[in-house]
Amino acid sequence: MAASTYLLGLDISTTGAKALLIDAAGAVIGSASSRLSLSTPRPLWAEQNPADWWAGMAASIRHLLAEQSVAGDQIAAIGLTGQMHGLVLLDAAGQVLRPAILWNDQRTGPQCDEMRARLGRERLIQITGNDALTGFTAPKVLWVQQNEPEIYAQARQILLPKDYLRFKLTGDYAMDKADGAGTILFDLAARRWSAQVLDALQIPAQWLPPTFEGPAVTGVVSAAAAAETGLRVGTPVVAGGGDQAAQAVGVGAVLPGIVALTLGTSGVVFATTPSALIEPAGRLHAFCHAVPGRWHFMGVMLSAAGSLQWHRDSLAPGLSFDELIAEAAGVSPGSEGLLFLPYLTGERTPHPDPLARGAWIGLTLRHGRPHLTRAVLEGVAFGIKDSFTLIQGAGVGAIQQVRVSGGGAKSALWRQIMADVLGVELATVNTAEGAAYGAALLAAVGAGLHSTVDAACQATIQITGRTTPHPATMAAYAALYPHYQALYPALRDEFQTLSRWAAP
Ligand code: XUL
Repeated sequence: MAASTYLLGLDISTTGAKALLIDAAGAVIGSASSRLSLSTPRPLWAEQNPADWWAGMAASIRHLLAEQSVAGDQIAAIGLTGQMHGLVLLDAAGQVLRPAILWNDQRTGPQCDEMRARLGRERLIQITGNDALTGFTAPKVLWVQQNEPEIYAQARQILLPKDYLRFKLTGDYAMDKADGAGTILFDLAARRWSAQVLDALQIPAQWLPPTFEGPAVTGVVSAAAAAETGLRVGTPVVAGGGDQAAQAVGVGAVLPGIVALTLGTSGVVFATTPSALIEPAGRLHAFCHAVPGRWHFMGVMLSAAGSLQWHRDSLAPGLSFDELIAEAAGVSPGSEGLLFLPYLTGERTPHPDPLARGAWIGLTLRHGRPHLTRAVLEGVAFGIKDSFTLIQGAGVGAIQQVRVSGGGAKSALWRQIMADVLGVELATVNTAEGAAYGAALLAAVGAGLHSTVDAACQATIQITGRTTPHPATMAAYAALYPHYQALYPALRDEFQTLSRWAAP
């Protein structure tokens, strides 16, 4: 391995365009990010302009290479990752037709119902592994078809966010299979587009790009992209993976038995499966992994660390997260009977309900901000347990290890609460760069530096710490959990009613 060989992982998230540089041994050399903002032109809508993604990413790459004094010809390969499920529509000339409709956009409830009606819910789950959820891409295509027919008539290409960057980098239309499965236009077991789903939705098959396994090279950097970024013309770009699959690679959750728990804005429980297992009721997501020939289950909570961020911004804007969480350390487990529901942006797993709302239930005069904070940490952990329990019951076999990562995992108290609520030991790993790191490892495999993704993970990822559950606290949380579980069904109808009080 040449000392001067590097890999680049590019991650287009909702909040930023991040470029990460690692060396051939997997050590992080540096990263650069450009911030992105989100537009919500109407309630439940979430959009971004793909041109902003490219401008942000090109700037991040230029800054990173300059800051690290790395020349474009030292980059052996590039891996892509990013927010999943976002719909990018291009015309025949490759021009963007409308702002991208993002993963957290909730406008497509009626289109999800229509997908179930056209395909049959059971059949839809059998083919794609998933029920129709507002977050996924397929109902968004249907929404444009029905609500913006003049735009739909010009459409010729459907891409996901990171694959729009691939198009700008290489000029090629291509996608990885993990992100492809997240469109739910995919035949999960066959790892290719589903003619049955495309037919039912009247989406032309030629609008979808070819799909590739995560480490496969899909194209090379074009002259135009090289001029904008400082990259070398001809640098290979690998397929990469949607952010959750790449995140799993980035923490080494590539084999059955190792679960990845990510506490980012959203909270994700991710379990690799050796075959295309599905949860028959469609309560878990079932997608392809970025590891060739493997699949995964996933439960997604929409507001995990996002709940804590909202709480801090609203009720303690002057405090750091550390200061806020430190206040909660002295509160006893269960927050003196105060429960928090984390459905601030609706929910996906296990309650696919865009209209679900957040709540503190059980307030008394004794409760102060420390209790409110602890209840948020606990409520998110209970919501994560909902996904964890579904995964344990879905035939994944014994869970040997849970690897925790993401911004929320930096808090020792939150890790302890999470271990106590789940009743499992949590492991932390040496890599904190998440999905971008996974994308860079997939690039390393594509460049031939490792023979497989497993080998790449083994060579680079180590366990750095463990959080063991405390039996007494585990028992306290086990007693409280059924009461948390009872709240959403009790309040669901009220949430529906409250959602009709639109903003003035
Ligand atoms: C996964 C999901 C989110 C987005 C945004 O299903 O919707 O993780 O990918 O990060």
